[in-house]
Amino acid sequence: MKTTEEFAKKTDREIIDGCWIPPFYRGKYQEALDSWPEEKLWVLEIYWEVCNFVPRYGMWPEHCEMLLRYTLQCRGDHLEIGTLWGGSAMAVSFVKSSSRIYCIDPCNKTDSFVGKTATEERVRENFAKLNLNIHLYVQKHPPMPSELADHRFDTCLIDGSHKAHAVQANWLDVKNRVDRYVIFHDIHMKGVRPIFDMACEDKDWKLTEALPRMGVVKRCTS
Ligand SMILES: C[S@@+](CC[C@H](N)C(=O)[O-])C[C@H]1O[C@@H](n2cnc3c(N)ncnc32)[C@H](O)[C@@H]1O
Repeated sequence: MKTTEEFAKKTDREIIDGCWIPPFYRGKYQEALDSWPEEKLWVLEIYWEVCNFVPRYGMWPEHCEMLLRYTLQCRGDHLEIGTLWGGSAMAVSFVKSSSRIYCIDPCNKTDSFVGKTATEERVRENFAKLNLNIHLYVQKHPPMPSELADHRFDTCLIDGSHKAHAVQANWLDVKNRVDRYVIFHDIHMKGVRPIFDMACEDKDWKLTEALPRMGVVKRCTS
């Protein structure tokens, strides 16, 4: 196991303030790294592995930690809306090799932070190189791919379009298909926050945890 100091030395990449690669190594993120708890260093190991495979992983380490903590609590399948280069799906897949992970993304998004397009081929190549059990559906959500029409998931990450109407459409669909946790990324954004608040107020769901940019709701009815 590496120490936080060793992690701090490792980076040769930096894209600050959107979520990136690895954001915590330098400058203002050094503080976050310094206070990173030793018992969670395994998350940084995973984060670093993911960063080696993708041009950009759109989450900060603390978001990766939160995502892994909730998905690890559940044995069932995981759904991801918004995959980009595959970073968040790869992280979950590393820790949940016995569950199926389903990703929905129309692909071909030009990632302005790195000036490259996240093509379907590139995303599939990333998954295949690591032999990961991830199923990618190349389309927008909603609708749910017909193969998954009756599928139940334990967990879902909503990280697709951050426009309010799109996030709302994601939530209204997945809230009826997910049995444990729905995780919203980028809840600080004006398109996402009201829908996260709506989820927290839903009679079947309750707020479990929220960081400034990521929040989790839990189903409270069976
Ligand atoms: C913020 S990125 C996802 C980042 C990714 N979760 C990660 O950790 O690196 C947003 C992605 O959502 C996708 N997207 C946009 N609208 C969508 C929709 N309606 N359904 C599914 N994905 C969508 C975009 O193509 C883009 O790849």
